Amino acid sequence: MTEAFLSVRNLRVSYQVGRNFVHAVDGASFDIPKGSITGLVGESGCGKTTVARALTRVIADNATISGGQILFNGKDLARIPEKEMNALRWRDIAFIPQSAMNSLDPVYTVEYQLGEVLRRRGGMSRAQARKRSEELFDMVGIDPGRLTDYPHQFSGGMRQRVAIALALALDPKLIIADEPVTALDVIVQRQILDQLKELQTRLGLSVILVTHDISVVAYICDRTVVMYAGKVAESGSMQAALTAPSHPYTMGLRNAFPDLQGAASGVLTPIEGAPPNLANPPTGCRFKPRCPFALDLCGSEPPVVDVAPGHPVLCHRASESAALRIEAAKTETWMARA
Ligand SMILES: Nc1ncnc2c1ncn2[C@@H]1O[C@H](COP(=O)(O)OP(=O)(O)OP(=O)(O)O)[C@@H](O)[C@H]1O
Ligand SMILES: [Mg+2]
Repeated sequence: MTEAFLSVRNLRVSYQVGRNFVHAVDGASFDIPKGSITGLVGESGCGKTTVARALTRVIADNATISGGQILFNGKDLARIPEKEMNALRWRDIAFIPQSAMNSLDPVYTVEYQLGEVLRRRGGMSRAQARKRSEELFDMVGIDPGRLTDYPHQFSGGMRQRVAIALALALDPKLIIADEPVTALDVIVQRQILDQLKELQTRLGLSVILVTHDISVVAYICDRTVVMYAGKVAESGSMQAALTAPSHPYTMGLRNAFPDLQGAASGVLTPIEGAPPNLANPPTGCRFKPRCPFALDLCGSEPPVVDVAPGHPVLCHRASESAALRIEAAKTETWMARA
């Protein structure tokens, strides 16, 4: 495995709601190697955005990083002073927020918005910012002649490209993109993902791509971190975690999404039921109520089992995964649970 340059250890993030706490991320650990595209995937509400935001410490007012470490370039991003963290944003780690294409300011031209980052954060002159903006538009495949347009003059796909250009502005080493293609149709999704992959390879970037759609991960990522109900169910290389998944949740996700390449993928089988309420999660394995392979022992906290080097799985039955995979491929396995 290539060198890990971001290492998340036992990360905990909670939201205070009145007198209660929602433990949105409850002990997440994973590594991001240099020059990789990692898909952070899981159902709505499992904590993906919370992890992504914690990594850049752009968290909601009622959120607290209550434990764990985020090790990056020898620093623990969970602990360094805000001033130091602020110096890393855009320059080392750039974040593309969920619905970024709708968050561009409608009253300013795109050139102005790029200029804000390039001049304020990057210390560039007006002329340097102009030149870099043209370069960035070229990189994301938009005619630089359109720099003086307002966001509403672009299509959704183009606005997403502008958001990527903004993230690339100061040449960061790591880009975290939260659901960058979710609101777009499949053809535009593929164009944007292809472009992201091309830029990642050419610039030697590391990318964390947050998505609820495992087919997006299968399409461009080389690694994945699968989250379920605030915990990491499984992580590893694409081969390890998606071709041969070892957590029943990952096996179920694979059956539930169509193939982005448009290949005939047979019948789609949803995972019946809903994830638990994170304000009051059940004890033991959180996937137990929906898992077709659950046993009594799953009522106790599952261990993290390394089914192969660099492929940890949070499941009591991880050692039986080869046999479970065969069962999980059958629609009736999941229907029996309904
Ligand atoms: N500001 C907040 N206050 C209270 N709870 C929150 C807040 N933001 C998120 N949550 C809760 O934290 C959990 C994780 O939310 P998060 O947005 O990280 O999920 P997600 O995996 O990104 O979902 P989606 O795919 O819908 O974007 C959810 O239960 C959500 O309701
Ligand atoms: Mg989200």
